[in-house]
Amino acid sequence: PSLEKEFLPMYFGWFLSKRSSETLRKAGQAFLDELASLKAFKKESKYFASAIEDPKIKLALTSYFVKRPPGVLHCTTKYTDFGKAAGAEEYAQQEAVKASYGKGFTLSISALFLTTKTVGARVELSEQQLLLWPGDADKVLPIDSLPKGSRAHITLGCANGVEAVQTGLDLLEFVKLEKAGNKGDEVGEIGGGKLLYFDNGMWMLTLAKKIDVKAIFSGYYG
Ligand code: 2AM
Repeated sequence: PSLEKEFLPMYFGWFLSKRSSETLRKAGQAFLDELASLKAFKKESKYFASAIEDPKIKLALTSYFVKRPPGVLHCTTKYTDFGKAAGAEEYAQQEAVKASYGKGFTLSISALFLTTKTVGARVELSEQQLLLWPGDADKVLPIDSLPKGSRAHITLGCANGVEAVQTGLDLLEFVKLEKAGNKGDEVGEIGGGKLLYFDNGMWMLTLAKKIDVKAIFSGYYG
């Protein structure tokens, strides 16, 4: 077992095909462009401190999320930190994980979301895909009790100084609000779906037509 530990990846996850990555990036860009041009968004743009100084806010919102993942996009299942993370070894040894390694999946994107820190895509996992989801991921606080897979997402961008791990925590904040009965303010229909505002600079576009992306379950070794 000590030998295997050395060979655990930085993280396990689904890695999108190049084509699916491009499709999703485009959808994310369209979301940013549309949102930035909306009156309702401009009214609330005080949350995006560095963006508001620029009158061409449309351009500024794209550059606000400066940290974009290079190469193909991914949906992290378990962050194993090369074996150092809690539960890393246990996760890697699960039958479902071993059996699915290198296999192809279709992930369903149900929404796009944006906060002052991150922009991402919400992934709706199937029963089979949930078998690869770790038991400890869906919490911000230890007392949180949210449905399995609540955190499943694909990071599209982070603001300056924000680490990618934040995107999943931001999504969990939306889920916590939803669980508390807050459905968000319906701002209207924009390209692709219904736009909801949850205050504090938290926006979610629930897609009328879910985006299916092709992905391979694998590990990232850095
Ligand atoms: P992400 O899944 O939200 O994009 C490498 O850092 C990848 O692992 C990133 O894509 C990142 O976030 C994810 N990651 C980093 N630290 C993490 C952590 N502590 N828990 C879960 N995911 C993490």
